[in-house]
Amino acid sequence: MSVILGLESSCDDSAAALVTSDRRILAQTVVGQNSAHQPYGGVVPEIAARAHVEILPGLIEKVLSDAEMSISDVDAIAATAGPGLIGGVMVALLAGKGLALAAAKPLIAVNHLEGHALSPRLVDPDLGFPYLLLLVSGGHCQLLEVNGLGHYRRLATTIDDAVGEAFDKAAKLLGLPYPGGPAIEKLARRGDPNAVPLPRPLVGSGEPHFSFAGLKSAVQRAVASGDFQPEDIAASFQQAVVDCLVDRTRLALEGTDAPALVVAGGVAANQAIRTALAKLAAKNCRKFSVPPPWLCTDNAAMIAWAGAERFAGGLCDPLDVPARARWPLDERAEKVRGAGVKA
Ligand code: KG4
Ligand code: ZN
Repeated sequence: MSVILGLESSCDDSAAALVTSDRRILAQTVVGQNSAHQPYGGVVPEIAARAHVEILPGLIEKVLSDAEMSISDVDAIAATAGPGLIGGVMVALLAGKGLALAAAKPLIAVNHLEGHALSPRLVDPDLGFPYLLLLVSGGHCQLLEVNGLGHYRRLATTIDDAVGEAFDKAAKLLGLPYPGGPAIEKLARRGDPNAVPLPRPLVGSGEPHFSFAGLKSAVQRAVASGDFQPEDIAASFQQAVVDCLVDRTRLALEGTDAPALVVAGGVAANQAIRTALAKLAAKNCRKFSVPPPWLCTDNAAMIAWAGAERFAGGLCDPLDVPARARWPLDERAEKVRGAGVKA
């Protein structure tokens, strides 16, 4: 059994966690920066990086003290090394390097997306490889075949906005606070999902790619028309997203023998999305796995767990490993035709 310290600071959440290779979460803590970024309606990279510098050291002390451990009790240090806002990524990675050097512990540079991708395995011991992963977060919307540790095949991606980004933009149009996902989900509970006619971009198309920019523009028009209640727009938007995710994932399931469907990333915290995808998996006779909501949004337990899987596989990194703003899980995946810079 090994104990891994996980560190995360790639976006606007500072987080530290201690996780064991036998799936025990000894301590974990996340501090968000919502109030710092709220006046700007989105994450400001410089503000985020400075906040991580101030917050992260205290979180490392807290998880060690909560678990009644010292750094010498830790077997390895796993830090997110990308992708993300580079100033932020560097904070956890440099903290990890410093601790690894000072305490003479191995360093594991974790891909944040691999953290999300493996997170269901932390809480679901029965989830083996391979599985079809729907990765839905603020920066990504992808379908990947997860064939083993470090073995990812991207089947689809978004040709414009990520799905979390669509939630955040729709929320902003509705005057809701950042991050938009939870705010839309809450408002949608009171609304009629069929009240506002909204498009389902790419639904029915032959490849399982995603597109959300047109949906956002349609929300903009619905808000501007003044014809609809905000809760109806929120519910109709969420339903449109659910329909897109289900249709695209159904198509990807048809093309893979993977016995399980997994959903991960911040948007997987959404109850309507969880329910719809669980139904889709059942219909297609696949096992379904989704982490609890706190493990879907950014956290360090998933980074520590990805570190535990890598440590078990003997995959450690040198102290000069670089921070990476861009770091796709499937490095061979080609740019999608019609895609913007985010593909
Ligand atoms: O994974 P995550 O915490 O950070 C990234 O790696 O991007 O995902 C953040 C995204 C945000 O866009 C946020 O609005 C969305 O996840 N999100 C949700 C919900 N909770 C968070 N979207 C829909 N419903 C939710 N309940
Ligand atoms: Zn994330």
